[in-house]
Amino acid sequence: MGKLAARILFSITFFLVLVSRILPATSQEVEDEKEFDYNPNGEKGPAQWGRIHPDEWGACSNGSMQSPIDLLDERVDVVSHLGRLNRSYRPGNATLRNRGHDMMLKWERGAGTIQINGTEYILNQCHWHSPSEHTINGKKFALEAHMVHESLDGKVAVVGIMYKIGRPDSFLSSLTKQLQSVAGSYERDTVVGVVDPRNIKIGSRKYYRYIGSLTIPPCTENVLWTMVKKVRTATRDQVRLLRVAVHDDSDTNARPLQAINSRSVKLFRPEDKDD
Ligand SMILES: *[C@@H]1O[C@H](CO)[C@@H](O)[C@H](O)[C@H]1NC(C)=O
Ligand SMILES: *[C@@H]1O[C@H](CO)[C@@H](O)[C@H](O)[C@H]1NC(C)=O
Ligand SMILES: *[C@@H]1O[C@H](CO)[C@@H](O)[C@H](O)[C@H]1NC(C)=O
Ligand SMILES: *[C@@H]1O[C@H](CO)[C@@H](O)[C@H](O)[C@H]1NC(C)=O
Repeated sequence: MGKLAARILFSITFFLVLVSRILPATSQEVEDEKEFDYNPNGEKGPAQWGRIHPDEWGACSNGSMQSPIDLLDERVDVVSHLGRLNRSYRPGNATLRNRGHDMMLKWERGAGTIQINGTEYILNQCHWHSPSEHTINGKKFALEAHMVHESLDGKVAVVGIMYKIGRPDSFLSSLTKQLQSVAGSYERDTVVGVVDPRNIKIGSRKYYRYIGSLTIPPCTENVLWTMVKKVRTATRDQVRLLRVAVHDDSDTNARPLQAINSRSVKLFRPEDKDD
């Protein structure tokens, strides 16, 4: 390589490094595990999250619409006007990452949209908590998937799906090899190839809807939550694969339940009974 070419290459590299430092992270969720954990009595445990970075993470301690919550049948308003979940997903290239506190499947350029009450939210990533973060009538389940969407003006909508131990989940089966290979590769993106989010089955038209927050720091509020009512199944091995990011000292990556305060929780149930 000529001297000039080398200098140009150096300048370009320097510029790219500079740009990557200056640009803010696109994901709203914290990616670095070391700053917080799930140890209930620890200095970085859920009860302390708001104190770790009071300016940015204050909502974790002082928020009034935090997630997760218990979805209690006696307390929900049953409605029929919220409409079917309008998912317009499409396949996209994805990477898998062990974030240290969870496993995340990320579509680099999004994977289509979900439309809720006239707003389009782009599907960016999916990650898993074990055991489940939300509960139904006080009951916890083995696993909870969060499909995280964001609108062009920065509003966040999460669709949550809960799983109990049982028959294999076909979407997780399709990711077995990749999940196995990423298990030991902490904080590195592993290319998965094209993943079609339409294969993440919901299998029900009933869902809970409420306004909450991200369940990890910075616990940002005004997240539009959709929790699918039907509890699906996954095998013990599938749950185990997603638990490699769950640490022994806490044995969980589920945030404790948060106060509902004055929020309303709606349960959408279509009028026709063909569900
Ligand atoms: C929470 O609010 C209280 C009272 O306003 C304040 O003293 C405290 O610093 C706040 N904590 C955080 C983490 O923002
Ligand atoms: C995925 O990436 C490959 C290689 O970059 C590209 O050829 C392909 O078109 C991409 N597929 C989708 C669905 O984006
Ligand atoms: C569903 O969403 C698509 C795209 O987001 C939109 O064009 C369509 O009108 C929506 N359908 C309903 C029934 O809301
Ligand atoms: C839908 O959006 C409209 C207009 O932004 C708002 O008035 C209405 O309350 C919303 N409906 C629901 C169910 O969120």
